[in-house]
Formats: sequence, structure tokens, C-alpha cells
Amino acid sequence: MSKVVIVTFCLFLMVKLCCLVCLHDSAQRDTHVVSPPAVIPHTTKIFRRSTTWAPQLPLRVTPWYLPGQSALLTLSQNTQLQSAMREVTKTISDMLSVQRSEGPLLLNRDMSKYCRSIWGDPSLLNYKRCGSRDLSYHGERCLDVVIPDSHLHGYEVWPMNGTEPDHVTPNGTGVPDTDFLLYVRVAQTEKCALQPSVIAYASYCQLDHSGRPIAGVIVFCPKRLRDGVYQHQHIVQVCLHEILHALGFSSSLFERWIDCSFPGQCSSRSRVTNTDERGQLRIYTPNVMQRMGEHLGAGNVGAPLEDQESPTSSHWESRMMQGSILTASLSPPHLTYLDSITLAAFQDMGWYGVNTSMSSHLVWGKGAGVSFGLPSTCQEKLADFFCKDQGEIGCHHLHLNKGNCSTDAFLDGCRIYKPLLQGGECWLKQENYGADEIYHSQSRCFFSNLTKETKHEKVKGRCYLHRCIAPNTFQIKVQGSEWTDCPAGEWIEVKGFEGVLLCPDGRLCSGFDRPPAPTSVSPTSPFYGTFPQIGPGIRVQLTIVQNLEWNPAKKKLLTEEVLGVVAHHAGVQRCFLHASTQLDTDLSFVLVIGESSNCRPHPTGSWPHSSIMNLTDYFITYESPQFSTITIRFQSHGSQNSIVSQAGLVGTCVGVILFCAMLILTICWCKYRARSLQVRDVYHAQL
Ligand SMILES: *[C@@H]1O[C@H](CO)[C@@H](O)[C@H](O)[C@H]1NC(C)=O
Ligand SMILES: *[C@@H]1O[C@H](CO)[C@@H](O)[C@H](O)[C@H]1NC(C)=O
Ligand SMILES: *[C@@H]1O[C@H](CO)[C@@H](O)[C@H](O)[C@H]1NC(C)=O
Ligand SMILES: *[C@@H]1O[C@H](CO)[C@@H](O)[C@H](O)[C@H]1NC(C)=O
Ligand SMILES: *[C@@H]1O[C@H](CO)[C@@H](O)[C@H](O)[C@H]1NC(C)=O
Repeated sequence: MSKVVIVTFCLFLMVKLCCLVCLHDSAQRDTHVVSPPAVIPHTTKIFRRSTTWAPQLPLRVTPWYLPGQSALLTLSQNTQLQSAMREVTKTISDMLSVQRSEGPLLLNRDMSKYCRSIWGDPSLLNYKRCGSRDLSYHGERCLDVVIPDSHLHGYEVWPMNGTEPDHVTPNGTGVPDTDFLLYVRVAQTEKCALQPSVIAYASYCQLDHSGRPIAGVIVFCPKRLRDGVYQHQHIVQVCLHEILHALGFSSSLFERWIDCSFPGQCSSRSRVTNTDERGQLRIYTPNVMQRMGEHLGAGNVGAPLEDQESPTSSHWESRMMQGSILTASLSPPHLTYLDSITLAAFQDMGWYGVNTSMSSHLVWGKGAGVSFGLPSTCQEKLADFFCKDQGEIGCHHLHLNKGNCSTDAFLDGCRIYKPLLQGGECWLKQENYGADEIYHSQSRCFFSNLTKETKHEKVKGRCYLHRCIAPNTFQIKVQGSEWTDCPAGEWIEVKGFEGVLLCPDGRLCSGFDRPPAPTSVSPTSPFYGTFPQIGPGIRVQLTIVQNLEWNPAKKKLLTEEVLGVVAHHAGVQRCFLHASTQLDTDLSFVLVIGESSNCRPHPTGSWPHSSIMNLTDYFITYESPQFSTITIRFQSHGSQNSIVSQAGLVGTCVGVILFCAMLILTICWCKYRARSLQVRDVYHAQL
């Protein structure tokens, strides 16, 4: 009895501590998803693609940083976060393409929220239109993020029979150059607090008429961004994993994947997932089945979903897909790949063109047949890839690291060589731990008991040099030995040593065993650098109601914040805007526009000076009276005339007034700010 309790408790601890790294499914359950009004979910069977042929162009994911939250992180943490996001959006746009819709992206409003009643009599002029407004409607959210009105379609409320609407909320200006809008929030949410190991989670909140996600949110847990050494590749990996969920690899979207294999039209897929004869849930779509079959060497096979997450997981089964970016428990970044089966799933969603040259083939389970990785076969004596004895030191299957034979909550009792970190990286030059071992970028892990002494040695994972001659053909070198041929799959002896060494088959010299590049975090600093500047600088004058004490860090933070706000409202990519001077004592700085290597090319070639200069006064307002109000004004650099006046236009028509009214935006620095001490303190306290 007590044994059962202890085992249960340990399992619980394991789940708690090591593996529940991805909160996508739980975040998605909490996210209200809005579709365009015409689509009634699950009833539209066939829809046409655009009648004119449109090319598929790279998917543009636009991160939208909520103003104000940079206060939760230091400047360098912010820069690192943004640099990670840029890396991920670049990967996504290399990987996926879509038929772009015209104009800026506008998100939909949920009619069932803003509208209390709809005219239901077909004889009425305004049949099916909204008849009365829900006065408690306060706009749309994406999980916890309030979507700005400028990102949303407008709506109208109609009288029973009239031709003029009773109420009009105009369309927003939308977000230019965007196919997927990603709200980026940094907040210590309840989910972060409950799962301290979580770095980030994401969900989608808007779909287009074909069911493709067009907007979502990614939440970063600030504690993990602050912890110790900043692990850039780790953040990039988690971020990519989460965004892949939000773009379509989500159990809540499986049944909405479409089949666009016939030219000109798409139809619903009848069934994406199904349970096989052993009770394993799998994805059965054409490309996925083909890739999975090729991988296992076994005809067409569905690709298995994680059975430890119910009812339907948004992850691949850990036992069978180790090393994929979409398993529930991720290996370190250098042992994780964007694999071909994941890419096949994106092909089968129907919404995307996929650049298959991005993919790596999984090494785990390659050629191992249909019964590979079953809980019943993984324990067999000769089961390739798996191991028997808990705690035994062998080699991780990619042979870059030594491995520790162990299990976790997703492995259903199977044991694998988990990569041994801190000392187990053969590819990392370090103090040699075992005699005769060599740690070097060209070293790999080999099972061996080579020794110069005569005493008996147990076979275990050791690090020796290797060099590639051809695919799967290589030589090895032990400390003090000559280069020795190492025929894949055979045990060899090495001159001058007792014992043997196993040459792995199909794991080395095939392009998948690159050691990670030396960790280079080189986020381009947006500050005070020289840039290929385009056009004149613009002096930005800030006015703050309260008297605050300033230090350089606070000034940088504020400058960063202001650039974010300006970029957003001028519809420019943030990375084009730079501060060429520090914030003066009179709180002004010079903003310059210039290209940056991390930016997508500016679309039209017309540079946004005028759209910036045309912005009237801007406010950053804090919600509570204790918070400061900051006004942003623009002047041509060198000129003393503040260019804030749009007065000539105001009054010419209602539309313009509305437009200007929208321009005078109150930016929620937001509810979270008001609630969070860190935020309120940021400009008041010493940083
Ligand atoms: C496809 O991916 C490769 C990198 O693997 C990249 O160099 C290339 O530009 C991508 N092609 C497209 C059309 O995005
Ligand atoms: C609506 O207007 C039409 C004429 O435009 C009229 O025939 C009809 O009676 C009106 N319906 C109601 C319910 O007022
Ligand atoms: C908003 O834009 C849509 C097209 O995207 C248009 O059909 C609609 O009439 C516009 N609504 C308003 C209130 O301008
Ligand atoms: C291997 O993993 C076990 C737990 O599964 C742990 O107790 C042991 O210390 C690990 N060994 C090494 C060398 O890290
Ligand atoms: C090395 O391992 C092999 C196979 O287990 C064994 O036959 C041999 O005696 C071992 N040699 C030494 C020197 O330990």
C-alpha cells in the first residue's frame, strides 16, 4: 500500500518538476476564439480559394509588444527577448508561406458579444444584422490581452427597417504586413506561478474564413527570463515550439485542418486523428503518414500523439519521436530538430505552403519498423535506442552527449539515455574526466571499455575524437592512439588498448550531429549606434506630469518604450526605429529611421517619416492616479516648431474627428501594470 502511495507521489513529482513544460492545451482552453462572422464552425464543408491565382508568400508573423511591460524586465532582458522573437519569426517565414490577403490585417469581433439581438425575420431589410448593442461590451481579448480597437473590424447596429445604421464603430487601421499577429506579453500569470519551470506558453485567438489562425498570444513568464544565465537558444526553442502550436498544431484545431490538394478548392478533412488497434491516438493525414512510414521503413503509418495528455494531446508521442520540436518534454536545443514529420503536419493543415528543405530527419527510431517504441517492445533485451538499467551511463542517441539511462512521465516506463549535461557534453572542450577520453568539438560519445590497464572495465559511454570520411563512415581517435577506421555497427579494438569500442550505425556523419554553435547572443542594440540612416532625424519631446528622478537605466527603458509606441501607431516595424541620442535632461531624444539587419525589408520603399510626423500628441497613460502620464511630441530635427497640429483638418468631417480621436490613444500600460508593484515602481524607484 505505502509503496503505491510513494510511487504515485513520485510520478506526481516527476510530472510536476520535469515535464509539464508546455501549457498550450490549458492556455488554449482558456482562450476565446473568434472566427469571421460568415463561418459557422464545423458546418462549412467546401470553400473556394481566391478565384484568381495568388502566389504563396512567406508567412509574416508580427510580434506586438504590449507597451509598458518592458518594465518587468531589464533593458538587456528585453533586447534578448526581442532578439529571440526575431529569430523565431525568421524561422517561421522561411518555413511557411500563405496566400496573403490584401491590406492590413484586421481582426474580427464576436457578434455574440457586442450584439444583444439580431433581426431574425427574413422579410426585414436588415435581416440577420445586429439590432441592439450590448452596452456591457468592452472589446475583444486574446487570452488576457485586450486587443486594441485599431486592430479590430468595426461593427454596425441597424434599426429594423431603416437604411442608416443606428450605431457605427469604425474599422481600425489594422496591422500592416502581417499574416499572423502575435501579442507578446510578459507577465507573472497564475499559470507561470503554478508551473515554475514554464518559460512561455501560447494560444491562438482568431481564425480566418478557412480556419487558419491569424492572431494569438505568447506569454513569457518573467521569472524564467531573469533566472541566472540567459539561455538564448533555449528561449528560442520554447518560443518556436509554442508558436507552432498557435499556428495550427493544436488538438483543438486538428478537426479543422483542411484538404487543399485539389486546385481551386479546399474541403474539410473527414478525420485527422484516430486510435490504432493498440489504443494509441495517431494523426492520419497523407503527408504525415508517408513521412512517418518512410522514417520507420514501414509503408504508411499514422504519427503517434502523446498518450499521457488527455483527451487529445498537442504533442508527438515521446517514446517514438525523441528529438522532435513538438514532443511534450523537450531535449536541450542542440538535440532538438524541426523534423520532417512535423513539417508534414503543417503541409496537411491545408493553410500553408511548406519549405521542406528546412526539415531534419529524425534519427530516433529510424528504420526501426512499426512496432518501434511500444511500451511492450521498448523493454526487450535488444531494443535499439532504449536502455535497461536505470542510472547506467551510455550515449544519447545523437552521440553528442553521454546519456544517463532514465525515464520520465511521458515514456510509459520505457528508459532512454537522457543527455547528460554538465560534464557529459563530448563536443565541449573541458577538463578530461576519464583517462583516454577527449572532449573536443569533433568528439562524440561511444560505448566502450577501452583501457590501458589490464583490469576489467564495464562498457559505458565515453568521449573520443571522430572524423567523417563519408556518410556513416568515420574514424576515431583515443587519447594517444592513431586514427582508426570505425565501421558502422561493429565492435573494434584499438591498437595499444585493451577492450572494445562500438561504432554506431546510422547516427554519425549524416549531418544531424552538428555540435551547437558557440552561444552567441548578439542582439542588436537599438541604442545610440550608427545606422544606415534614411531621411532626417526626428526630435521626440517627452513631457511627464510628475517629477521623476532619472538615471541612465530608466532613461533607456523609457526611450525603448516610446519607440515601441511610435512604431505601433505609425505602422512601422519597431526594428527600423532607433534613438540616435540619449534622452536629454529636457526629456527629448532624436529618433532616426534606418535599416537593420534584423528587419524585413520595408515594403514600399517609402519611408515612414511622414506617418510619424503626422501623429498628433501621444499619451502613455497609467491607469491609476499614482502613475505618470507621458506625452510624446515630434519635431523635425533642428526645427523648433512642434509639428502637432492637425487642426485644419479637424472639423471638416466627422470621419476625420473620429480618426483623430482614435489617434489620441490611451495606451493601457495596463491592468497588469496597475496591479503590479514592479511596474508602478519602475520610474519612481532606483533601478
Ligand atoms: C527554405 O529554407 C531554406 C533554409 O533551410 C532557406 O534558405 C530558404 O530561403 C527557404 N526558402 C523559402 C522560399 O523561404
Ligand atoms: C419595412 O419596410 C417595408 C417597406 O420598405 C414595409 O413594407 C414593411 O411593412 C416594413 N416592415 C415593418 C415591420 O415595419
Ligand atoms: C470595414 O472594412 C470592411 C472590409 O474589410 C468593409 O466591408 C466594411 O464596410 C468596413 N466597415 C466600416 C464601418 O467602415
Ligand atoms: C542519472 O539519473 C538518476 C535519476 O534518474 C540520478 O539519480 C543519477 O544521479 C544520474 N546520474 C548522473 C551521472 O547524472
Ligand atoms: C570489454 O567488454 C567486453 C564485452 O563486454 C568484454 O568481453 C571484455 O572483456 C572487456 N574488456 C576489458 C578490458 O574490460
